[in-house]
Amino acid sequence: MALTLEPGAKLVVATHNPGKARELAEILENRFQLITAGDLDLSEPEETETSFVGNALLKARAAADASGLPALADDSGLSVSALEGAPGIYSARWAGPERDFYAAMRKVEERLEEADGDDRSAWFTCALALAWPHGAAVVVEGRVDGTLAFPPRGERGFGYDPIFVPEGGDLTFGEMEPAAKDAMSHRALAFAKLKAALW
Ligand code: IMP
Repeated sequence: MALTLEPGAKLVVATHNPGKARELAEILENRFQLITAGDLDLSEPEETETSFVGNALLKARAAADASGLPALADDSGLSVSALEGAPGIYSARWAGPERDFYAAMRKVEERLEEADGDDRSAWFTCALALAWPHGAAVVVEGRVDGTLAFPPRGERGFGYDPIFVPEGGDLTFGEMEPAAKDAMSHRALAFAKLKAALW
């Protein structure tokens, strides 16, 4: 089977978040007919894998197998070198059920203070998986390297953006123009690779 999707094909997005689906439609240049896992009432599988790629693939496969349609899923997060890659796949979970990312960023700072050395390097990863029902899958990963800066700066963006300064710049992702972040982010790199594979 060719691992391509015809323009206009139905594609399930393995998210229950309509905002994320709209954002994906735009990134994918409205090339496909997007349906969310929420629209289809699909249950969200537990993210039991140990890597971004593993979790993206698990979510894409679950949605594809349950719907009988190709499905796209992502998994992303912040990895800190001095913390052996933490929070990594637990990035969302460090913010707790209240999704308090200021608490999560404080936790990163505290762990760094406890750790030896002054290495503040970190990176964001975005894994994307597109799976066909009971079939093959395409998996890509984008990564952006940078350093962590405390206290958090900037009101833009989301999650850990206010403490991440991408390589070669001075502003945090939280301070940058959204378009500037979007042009260089881990997500943009991953989607560029996916598009290169698909169209
Ligand atoms: P996911 O929805 O399970 O992939 O969780 C991703 C989590 O990683 C988010 O909740 C954020 O905390 C963090 N994250 C991923 N990408 C970014 C980003 O571009 N900026 C800030 N935080 C991010």
